[in-house]
Amino acid sequence: MSVASHLHSERFKVVVCRNLGPDLVIWPEDRACERSWLMENIPGATGVIVMLTDKVRSLSGPSLKVVSTMSVGYEHIDLKAVAQRGLKVGYTPDVLTDAVADLSVMLALMAGRNGGVGVDLVQKGQWPNFSWAPFSLCGPQLSTTAASPTRKIGFLGFGRIAQVTLARLVPFGITHCLYSSNPSSPPNHARDAALAKQHNLQAVSKVDIDELSRESDVLFILAPGGSDTYHVVDERLLRKMKRTSILVNASRGTLVDSDALAKALREGWIWGAGLDVVEGEPNVAIDHPLVKEPRCVIVPHVASATLETRREMATRAAQNLIAAILGGEMPAQVNMANV
Ligand code: DGY
Repeated sequence: MSVASHLHSERFKVVVCRNLGPDLVIWPEDRACERSWLMENIPGATGVIVMLTDKVRSLSGPSLKVVSTMSVGYEHIDLKAVAQRGLKVGYTPDVLTDAVADLSVMLALMAGRNGGVGVDLVQKGQWPNFSWAPFSLCGPQLSTTAASPTRKIGFLGFGRIAQVTLARLVPFGITHCLYSSNPSSPPNHARDAALAKQHNLQAVSKVDIDELSRESDVLFILAPGGSDTYHVVDERLLRKMKRTSILVNASRGTLVDSDALAKALREGWIWGAGLDVVEGEPNVAIDHPLVKEPRCVIVPHVASATLETRREMATRAAQNLIAAILGGEMPAQVNMANV
């Protein structure tokens, strides 16, 4: 039995011999539920579990107490509207941190090492026409070398996922970690010094976004989506980056101006990009400016897509829902205090 089918076989089926009370209404298909179906079924519901593809603005139904999203991001939920109705919101932090960090490193490697071009060449049957040559399909190396002993890794957003991604990169010999985060939160010098010591880095420093873009060899975008971060990666910022640098986005597509990034790749302002998310997804077709860029590796929003992590996320979403319905403490509740 393959590992994948073994893991699939752990999808437990449960048989219940009596109606235990709650009505469970489940969208039966493995694709985003239709809006009309959701709106039809919400009235009379006490709780709803949504995915990041389900926009939650106004949900009718006086009985509704909780919206539980099976995601760490919750910008698809209009928190103001939901708070006004006194609803609780649950989300799934922590359980997906490792999976997203893993994929972020994968994207950095693939973008730097021409992963998209190489895979495409083989899949199109072109390997027989491709002659190995000393410098063909070469790209910038992520790990340090004797001749190139400094690697600066940048993070836009320095929360849980960024810090775990940083830990993944330590064995590559990185030397500096730079980050920019919420300008209103002061630098945490003690935490940064502790991280530098723990990972044996020359520095972990909070810098402004211009220095971050200028200095980073790989820049990871791992900040929340929403209006505050809309197109924070724009033409101005991309023009400051090194020609050999890599941009990785595993947060939300809205942080990056796709047209500016496509131009940056086309005109060689940066080396490559690895994207798990693109603004306007899933409408990212073959004629999308980023899909046309050979040095842009794009995967379809799968950063948390490991069997282990998705099971944890589903469990956490159900636990949040049940706790809120029963009036208990939710394992992970969105703080609505400053909404
Ligand atoms: C989330 O849960 O918000 C992530 O985007 C999933 O990859």
